[in-house]
Amino acid sequence: MSLDWFEGPLLAIETSCDETSAAVLDGRKIWSNVVSSQARLHEKWGGVVPEAAARAHVEAILPVIEEALALAYLSLRDVRAVAATNRPGLLGALSVGLTSAKALSFSLGVPLIAVHHLEGHLLSPLALPGELPFPHACLIVSGGHTELVRVDGLGRYELIGQTLDDAAGEAFDKGARLLGLGYPGGQAIEKAAEGGDPKRYPLPRGLSGDTLDFSFSGLKTALWRLGETEGERLSVPDAAASLQEAIVSVLAERAVRAAIDFELPALTLVGGVAANLSLRSRLEGFCRREGLAFLTPPPELCTDNAAMIGLAGSLRLAAGERSGFDADCEANAALPGLPSPSF
Ligand code: KG4
Ligand code: ZN
Repeated sequence: MSLDWFEGPLLAIETSCDETSAAVLDGRKIWSNVVSSQARLHEKWGGVVPEAAARAHVEAILPVIEEALALAYLSLRDVRAVAATNRPGLLGALSVGLTSAKALSFSLGVPLIAVHHLEGHLLSPLALPGELPFPHACLIVSGGHTELVRVDGLGRYELIGQTLDDAAGEAFDKGARLLGLGYPGGQAIEKAAEGGDPKRYPLPRGLSGDTLDFSFSGLKTALWRLGETEGERLSVPDAAASLQEAIVSVLAERAVRAAIDFELPALTLVGGVAANLSLRSRLEGFCRREGLAFLTPPPELCTDNAAMIGLAGSLRLAAGERSGFDADCEANAALPGLPSPSF
């Protein structure tokens, strides 16, 4: 399937949670992608504080946009369209990015497109060179989502499996908190797991049988119990490795089975948890064994970033869509065909 792209420099903005990001693209080509993370700010509270996130976006947004333009050797006058995430996410955080995009669109006299954050993640493999086959299966794993999706093209998504409770990213984050590894949890668990034994502590795998759904909520109870019984003897690297293995093994097995069951020739892996190297290499191995193509963006395009918003925005603009200045932010909007975020 050939995709149509918006031509000319497009400025994209992402501020849905705790990353302030701006990117410049021309069609499918990403010229720059600047991400300013607020992780250090929220670390002391052990999670994202919405009010603090919004304030930090206000401080970071203009320097981040300026840097993205500078890295692309462009100035504002060169920008031909503006894309920004407007849903779902933290309302205060989203409104900083969307308001900036509206102001730029108005003052430059160029089109505005408001983008669904999840569509950005779903289409992020388009950042890779080469063809992205349609239809394909996509495993989306982030802080608020764990879904298996059949992707037929822009806006054509069909749910084939989902978490019944916590998202995979949430399981990493809650596990990290229980193990005293702090925030953000996914990276902390991955780092702590490096020297650990993934077989040391058997943890629950959630649903059994040939389902394509997931359940991760039993993990935090099991981990808490483990801490109670082991006390001082608990090995944090072994517990982190066991938790990572419990999450990765279920995700990888079900994602590959989904592609096979639905006769889809390729599997993509997207969302913040897709930055996890253990998950990436497990899926790569499984897909090779099954003769499936496996595509996942580089880790910096898996966690929240404006480049993926630009890719989705460019396709929507090329399809003739435009957003008005009355476009609003929405905290919980679902992408048609898919569920709302679980947080
Ligand atoms: O997509 P994302 O950046 O934000 C949302 O849209 O939610 O995903 C954030 C999630 C967090 O739960 C974080 O702990 C997880 O992705 N994450 C990871 C890793 N890096 C980020 N989980 C496991 N391993 C990682 N390396
Ligand atoms: Zn995200």
